Amino acid sequence: MSQASAKIILFGEHAVVYGEPAIAVPVSSLQAYAEIRESPSFQIIARDLNDKSIAFDGDDPLAQVVRLTFDSLNVPIPDISIAVRSDIPIGSGLGSGAAIATAIIRALLKYFDIQLSRALINELVFEVEKIHHGTPSGIDNTVIVYEQSVYFVREKPIEMIKNRSPLQVIVADTGKVALTRDSVGDVRRLYEDEPDITKPLIQQIGNLVRDAKDAMQSGDLQKIGDLMLENHCLLQELTVSSPELDMLVDTAMLAGAMGAKLSGGGRGGNMIALVDENTSEQVQDALKQAGAMRVFETIVGESTF
Ligand code: PMV
Repeated sequence: MSQASAKIILFGEHAVVYGEPAIAVPVSSLQAYAEIRESPSFQIIARDLNDKSIAFDGDDPLAQVVRLTFDSLNVPIPDISIAVRSDIPIGSGLGSGAAIATAIIRALLKYFDIQLSRALINELVFEVEKIHHGTPSGIDNTVIVYEQSVYFVREKPIEMIKNRSPLQVIVADTGKVALTRDSVGDVRRLYEDEPDITKPLIQQIGNLVRDAKDAMQSGDLQKIGDLMLENHCLLQELTVSSPELDMLVDTAMLAGAMGAKLSGGGRGGNMIALVDENTSEQVQDALKQAGAMRVFETIVGESTF
């Protein structure tokens, strides 16, 4: 069995597409799994889709991951079954597509006993991300393949980030599925139609991500929280928030969070809130009462270093 973690973006989504930095962290409590067995014929079975069997030559993204991996490994297609399952909700900004692709690629490498560097696995998963998202920045595949908190700048060497003290982050799902491809496309249109408004917003996000990196490294929790809220406001201006996300952000703040924002593509999916041991429970309760579908806590920087 091979697996890969979910991820959340702490700062900088959308602006990262335009060359600004972003910070993303793995979420090890949610995993995607892939398992390979001998089989009379080649098949892919998606456990979360009623054990749906997927044709190797079809358009299904899972089939595309497998084809791409076989092509690049240059090995014949064996008689195996690849069973895939995932705890990570789809279309919610938690990197489900990249995690499933990473788990499948890791399982195939294990099966064929092939060693591939993380950099090459990352390139492969990035190719899959392009199929899903059109023009992804590469942040999802990078944080998931490297399994560490990253300070990511498009087309720049990967920089890991180490926060001074662990961050207690609550993740809450609006329950609304939203396609990252759509919100990224809308920001692109805004960028092209109204550059005088959009470019400064993107630069402001970049500046606050640089400040967030300093705050994480110096352990300044209140500053991190303030920057999260500021980031959320700028994402609202980029039109990628939603009434549900705004409501959950307000709810978390009223319940005592130090900061809160949407995370990922936006319009739906998840929001995150920074808490401490005194506020974690009350923030989680308030988010559930406000209608969040799934609420959990993840600790950033505890186990990855
Ligand atoms: O929705 P997610 O978690 O896949 O995050 C997308 C992040 C964006 O910055 C909006 C797009 C990208 O490719 O970086």
